[in-house]
Amino acid sequence: MSYECILTELRGSGERKTGLITLNRPKQLNALNDQLMDELGQALLAFDADDGVGCIVLTGSERAFAAGADIPTMAPHDFMSAFKTGLISKNWETILQVRKPVIAAVGGFALGGGCELAMMCDFIIAADSAKFGQPEIKLGIIPGAGGTQRLPRAVGKSKAMDLLLTARMMDAAEAESAGLVARVVPADKLLDEALAAAETINGFSAPSVALIKELVHQAFQGPLSDGVKIERRYFHALFGTADQREGMDAFMNKRKPEFKHR
Ligand code: CAA
Repeated sequence: MSYECILTELRGSGERKTGLITLNRPKQLNALNDQLMDELGQALLAFDADDGVGCIVLTGSERAFAAGADIPTMAPHDFMSAFKTGLISKNWETILQVRKPVIAAVGGFALGGGCELAMMCDFIIAADSAKFGQPEIKLGIIPGAGGTQRLPRAVGKSKAMDLLLTARMMDAAEAESAGLVARVVPADKLLDEALAAAETINGFSAPSVALIKELVHQAFQGPLSDGVKIERRYFHALFGTADQREGMDAFMNKRKPEFKHR
């Protein structure tokens, strides 16, 4: 499959690889247009369906992860055309269908839809150069890809209100202390760190990985009691797998486990 707005490749030395997707509209700071979002959706689903892939890393350039939805292509819309063509709704949430972990490796600007896309990934590793923000208010609009909902869940109401209402940018250190970002690394180590995290995950049992992802998402969608109940059922279910026997036997015999479920 060849793409124009993204680059895709397989990385890693283990039996299971990492699917690396690089947003690639450098002149527009990776502004997210329709074609890019279509291609991103296709690439994500292809890696998700590939048994040889354990994890996906999504990254941009050193200057920008993505500076938001593409402003010139949004500008001509009126209400009816935005509504009828499904602006944003149409192709922005394919990423939520992916069952494998998606790690966002964010350097430079992650603004508007760029910040929203990073928040739709499972966790964010940020370069110390990263800047996050939801500046849509400066354009006379509001976020359209979940920013008003996911940002307060990540950083709390007060900081989310501050960022959304003043349009100020937050640097990587502030984003880490606020809980938006899992870890901050030097900019020149960003991809290596994200790929190393992916490689670690690739070595674990695929059912454990997929169920942890599903359950953490459940934590943001339903009541605690439902989440804990579902977790307990899945916990019991994993005792029916060879990987549970392998993992526990390896621990007790002080050896490295070799997980079979891919
Ligand atoms: N869409 C299209 N093009 C964009 C863009 C965007 N979101 N952001 C930047 N670009 C383009 C610029 O137009 C410029 O192109 P030209 O060289 O052809 O003029 C190029 O990228 C470089 O940008 P700047 O010259 O502005 O670079 P800078 O370093 O001075 O500033 C910036 C960088 C602060 C990111 C600034 O470009 C900026 O503010 N961009 C817009 C950010 C924004 O408002 N994002 C939200 C978009 S709306 C949205 O995302 C809705 C949603 O919820 C889904």
